[in-house]
Amino acid sequence: MSDLNNILNSFETKFSQIKNKEDLQNLKSEFFGKNGSISLQFKKMGSLNPEERKNFAKELNKIKDHLTSYIEKKFKDFENLEINQKLKNEKIDITLPIRSIQQGKIHPVSQVIDEISSIFSEVGFSVAEGPDVETENNNFTALNTPEDHPARDMHDTFYLDKDKKILLRTHTSPVQIRTMLNGKPPFKIIVPGRTYRCDSDQTHAPMFHQLEGLHIDKNITMGHLKGCLNYFIREFFEVKKIKMRFRPSHFPFTEPSAEVDIGYKIENGKIIIGEGDKWLEILGCGMVHPNVLKNTKVDPKKYQGFAFGMGIDRLAMLKYGINDLRAFFETDYRWLNHFGFDPLDVPTNYRGLSR
Ligand code: PHE
Repeated sequence: MSDLNNILNSFETKFSQIKNKEDLQNLKSEFFGKNGSISLQFKKMGSLNPEERKNFAKELNKIKDHLTSYIEKKFKDFENLEINQKLKNEKIDITLPIRSIQQGKIHPVSQVIDEISSIFSEVGFSVAEGPDVETENNNFTALNTPEDHPARDMHDTFYLDKDKKILLRTHTSPVQIRTMLNGKPPFKIIVPGRTYRCDSDQTHAPMFHQLEGLHIDKNITMGHLKGCLNYFIREFFEVKKIKMRFRPSHFPFTEPSAEVDIGYKIENGKIIIGEGDKWLEILGCGMVHPNVLKNTKVDPKKYQGFAFGMGIDRLAMLKYGINDLRAFFETDYRWLNHFGFDPLDVPTNYRGLSR
């Protein structure tokens, strides 16, 4: 037992001289480390007879707990001291300016797609989508555009595999085919999406965006087409009245076909949509050709309807006064910062969720 008393005494002396956490750590190893005084006493127990061992163990454990509690308490004291010291020394300078926050912007094309979708959803259209990589059949043949038709050249198609007849879609019209093949009439959809043609200048980019519309039912007429487009243009440009004209045109997949122009004028360098004596072409449309309906297993004797296709980028440029189409796709952050939209700004004519 005298060994234990010596240990206790020596601990007390050394403990009283401790100055910092490091000293304390060293003291802990000196007594509890692998060859520490306490650890050695535990090892010694094996050589005692059972009776001695019982008493010795009891005493040794008491001392061990005693020393451990001292060490732990001292550790806590040192830690508190450190924290208090830190609090005393550190100051928060509330006059410092905040770090600037970089907020993302919505691209005008995404913004316009949202606006258009919400305007059409108001009158019962749903949004459909299709892949950018298409078959020649969906892009041309099923759309009543035969092999030797000049429209195929006109579109300046990017072929990915000429033998397998795989291409980048030149318009969103192949989604008409996909929709009709996969469902049953009536159909009432719009299709926003990317389209591709070999073409590039200030108003043409090799990749651009189109919006397709398709409405097939039993009694759909050209009157519905006119009413629908008139409604859309008024809502989109936020004007009460719109000057609009349908010019006869030709598309293989519609009969009759038309191109639609809207009236505009320039005042003080700003474009005013809906009035004036200048005309701007904005879309192609017509009544879906009976051959297209036959190709998609829709009975043209029972069903008919209209389709239209417009350039989304063009509409975004007109509405938001952007004059170079190529800037849309240059991913210049300064441009996006200027022409982009705040993610939390609800567009003025957005009514998709609340009404
Ligand atoms: N797909 C035609 C184009 O890209 C537009 C269009 C769509 C015309 C639907 C009529 C009907 O030019």
